[in-house]
Amino acid sequence: MKSLFYSRFFILLPWVLIVIIMIHIDTRTSVRSPAMGRGGGAHRQDRTSPPRANRSALPVIYAITPTYNRPVQKAELTRLANTFRQVPRFHWIVVEDSSVRTELVVRFLARSGMQYTHLNIFTPRRFKRTGMPRATEQRNTALSWLRSHRSSKDVGIVFFADDDNTYSLELFEEMRSTRGVSVWPVGLVSGRRYERPIVEKGKVVGWYTGWRPDRPFAIDMAGFAVNLQVVLGSPRALFKRRGSQPGMQESDFLKQITKVGELEPKANNCTRVLVWHTRTEKVNLGNEPRHRQDSVVIEV
Ligand SMILES: *[C@@H]1O[C@H](CO)[C@@H](O)[C@H](O)[C@H]1NC(C)=O
Ligand SMILES: *[C@@H]1O[C@H](CO)[C@@H](O)[C@H](O)[C@H]1NC(C)=O
Repeated sequence: MKSLFYSRFFILLPWVLIVIIMIHIDTRTSVRSPAMGRGGGAHRQDRTSPPRANRSALPVIYAITPTYNRPVQKAELTRLANTFRQVPRFHWIVVEDSSVRTELVVRFLARSGMQYTHLNIFTPRRFKRTGMPRATEQRNTALSWLRSHRSSKDVGIVFFADDDNTYSLELFEEMRSTRGVSVWPVGLVSGRRYERPIVEKGKVVGWYTGWRPDRPFAIDMAGFAVNLQVVLGSPRALFKRRGSQPGMQESDFLKQITKVGELEPKANNCTRVLVWHTRTEKVNLGNEPRHRQDSVVIEV
């Protein structure tokens, strides 16, 4: 009798332990899941967030990244991907300045584990001169893709995420509540520690900037986000090639979709820097001595 009891007990024991472990894991994941909507990053609201945050109800962040082949390209994309991968409901639109989708970027994106769309368009040579705005065709190609692949049913935010910046995770939670066009400071631009929209009583009234404060929107490409429905609702709003100057791209675009008084200040009324212009130092590879080159083929 006793031995029957023991054999039953030892058969049941592993199952009891498994159930206990499953319950434990379940409570941990639900406590940690990020809260929806506005407010801080996932780290802030751990225990105060509703236990069953509904991720699929969050607007998707569509980050548009123009990129082109150069020695630092993969390093820049790696830094971006390491950040973006941690952002819930994120869709990366990478647009190469190239007549083909390059092997490097194809493989990089396939291994990134992210949701992405890979596009390409070659900038005509006549536009590749100093003094001309850059990445115009690439940003417009991404806008066209959104307009033909998303509809009034989709909830999303569009953001121009150049590959030479550094993004904090909090920035994405700030922009996620954008209803029209939102703005915030950008660090290390135009020879200053930061540029920012000047905010009074919750409204943008001017610009703190080191360069051409007379611009209608004196803001960097990394300093604003647009609700997807605004992009879809103004189908002709594009980045201008003709008649535009470098630094005027943002103003030329924003003029078509909003007014300064309607901008939504984020990052604590534009008093916190959550993105920095950190262009990686240019590398000159012309100086590698031939006789010391590696005999093994290396993936760079
Ligand atoms: C989450 O939100 C989506 C969209 O609002 C809804 O369709 C879905 O049923 C919700 N899921 C849960 C588990 O609440
Ligand atoms: C921004 O400023 C407005 C007006 O002064 C204020 O009502 C609001 O609470 C501020 N927002 C934040 C996040 O501090």
